[in-house]
Amino acid sequence: MSSSTERSLVLVKPDAVRRGLLGEILSRFERKGLVIEALELRTMEPSLADEHYAEHVERDFYPPLKAFMTSGPLVALVLSGDSVIDVVRAMIGATDGRKAAAGTIRGDLALSNRENLVHASDSPESAVRELALWFPKL
Ligand code: CMP
Repeated sequence: MSSSTERSLVLVKPDAVRRGLLGEILSRFERKGLVIEALELRTMEPSLADEHYAEHVERDFYPPLKAFMTSGPLVALVLSGDSVIDVVRAMIGATDGRKAAAGTIRGDLALSNRENLVHASDSPESAVRELALWFPKL
């Protein structure tokens, strides 16, 4: 398999910060060998939620998702490494924490499909879009 260094936008969501899981989650990414290029504790503005989740704004689950994502501080990260987009998606597991495989972050630590601890870019195109929204100077 060829190697390609990429960047991914990762959000450690407000539930993870509230539950004191930031260290556990960052530690998993570090132990995997991924590089933290940027890290910021911030509260998501409602307008940023609408832009970040543009593909979901019409969905029934969006109003409570927006309320949750803007409910307190989260940690926005830029992670880089070989195939980081796919690697991080595999590490966080399926969206619904009740169904995510054991060994993944959500499988081990989440029991909800909304409060699922982590968001990560799902393709190179969404990484470019999300990185520009969250870290426009990078
Ligand atoms: P995330 O990876 O941030 O991408 C979209 C988010 O919407 C997802 O994680 C969940 O937090 C949330 N989500 C997706 N599907 C549902 C659903 N069916 N019900 C509630 N929340 C959902």
